[in-house]
Amino acid sequence: MKILVVGGGGREHAIIKALKKNQRVTQIYALPGNGGIAADAKCVDIKATDIPAIVRFAISERIDYAVVAPDDPLALGAVDALEDAGVPCFGPRKSAAMIESSKVFAKELMRKYNIPTAQYRVFHDMDEALAYIETAPMPTVVKADGLALGKGVTVAETRQQAADAVRAIMGDRIFGDSGASIVIEEYLEGPEVSVLSFTDGNTIVPMVSSMDHKRAQDGDKGPNTGGMGTIAPNPYYTQEIADECMEKIFLPTIQAMREEGSPFKGCLYFGLMITKDGPKVIEYNCRFGDPETQVVLPLLKTDLLQVMWAVTDGRLGDIQVEFDNRSACCVVLASKGYPVKYESGYEITLPQEELDREIYVAGAELRDGKLVSHGGRVLGVVAVADTLRKAVDGAYEYAGKVKFENGFCRRDIGKRALEAIEED
Ligand code: AMP
Ligand code: GLY
Repeated sequence: MKILVVGGGGREHAIIKALKKNQRVTQIYALPGNGGIAADAKCVDIKATDIPAIVRFAISERIDYAVVAPDDPLALGAVDALEDAGVPCFGPRKSAAMIESSKVFAKELMRKYNIPTAQYRVFHDMDEALAYIETAPMPTVVKADGLALGKGVTVAETRQQAADAVRAIMGDRIFGDSGASIVIEEYLEGPEVSVLSFTDGNTIVPMVSSMDHKRAQDGDKGPNTGGMGTIAPNPYYTQEIADECMEKIFLPTIQAMREEGSPFKGCLYFGLMITKDGPKVIEYNCRFGDPETQVVLPLLKTDLLQVMWAVTDGRLGDIQVEFDNRSACCVVLASKGYPVKYESGYEITLPQEELDREIYVAGAELRDGKLVSHGGRVLGVVAVADTLRKAVDGAYEYAGKVKFENGFCRRDIGKRALEAIEED
């Protein structure tokens, strides 16, 4: 069976390594992939957003199944185009991907279907938004409506900061048309939990929960990044909270999407905050999270391709999806200076393979047969172990065996989670 995976980061590397375990898979193509993914898949130089070229490639190579992983091709309708050309796919169609690509859509869906989330107002006019900020309670949160490379959210402590964010998004259009509308919402407090789920539109199967570490520096300091590391499972996500999420958030969300005529099929990601009034949705993503996937898929015991096909065929309710009850930790090695300013082109030497250790390559290319850094986040070093403590120690120990002169990592991935466990 020939499989095509659209994307080229650490998340895609984790998906490809999991798909490779299926004996029926004979060839995986990554579009565009990267220098590290090249060890596990054939990389083809087609951009993840070049949908006509992706469809042409799928047809000419007689691809049996396609997985579209990143947000932008999903928002542009890559799944619609592939399915319409007869290629079975994993991922939501464009109308369902709006749950991520439009925050206004997501918020209005939650309001209409009574799904717990922060109170909010939508603005299409900058002066109205600025006038509202004059009296809004602080802190407040300003969000660009559309995709903004994960940078469209400002948590503002003061009216001045909130007004600056509104002007940058709506006036200067720093995220282009993504800033034509904005959401201004209530500031929520509590630990954050990421829950990825498989859903075929009717059945929803949450995966093991995880915790991202978004800031660049230890102690959650420094600028926001794409994610500097993850752990799974997330200790704040107790069975009681999981049950509440299923009843009040997960099932109502997929039902709402069906009722809106856009059933969601694929991986639906719930970014949750566990507030003192219960779990609330901070954001939806229409895809696997990065770097959440790097800790969740190594704990998936059921064959990934089998689960994906069940989603595509609407048979998710007929299969058992099982997770390992061990823990995983992913430490991201990034280029020094990321996310602000960094250099690429440094040689990387990976350690020998070890049991329960994985390295997923996010930003590297092959030059004369050597792996060199190419991008901000370069590697995700993952360890799986019986306890979170051992997984964290294992990931750092393995990361210490990587040779990458220009790299840095946070030293405290998993610290907050371990404190939460050890408080009990
Ligand atoms: P998002 O891009 O929507 O995931 O937002 C990025 C980060 O901003 C989240 O992970 C939260 O830490 C923070 N955030 C978003 N919305 C809120 C909110 N309503 N209250 C507090 N923090 C928020
Ligand atoms: N780690 C958060 C995301 O993938 O958006």
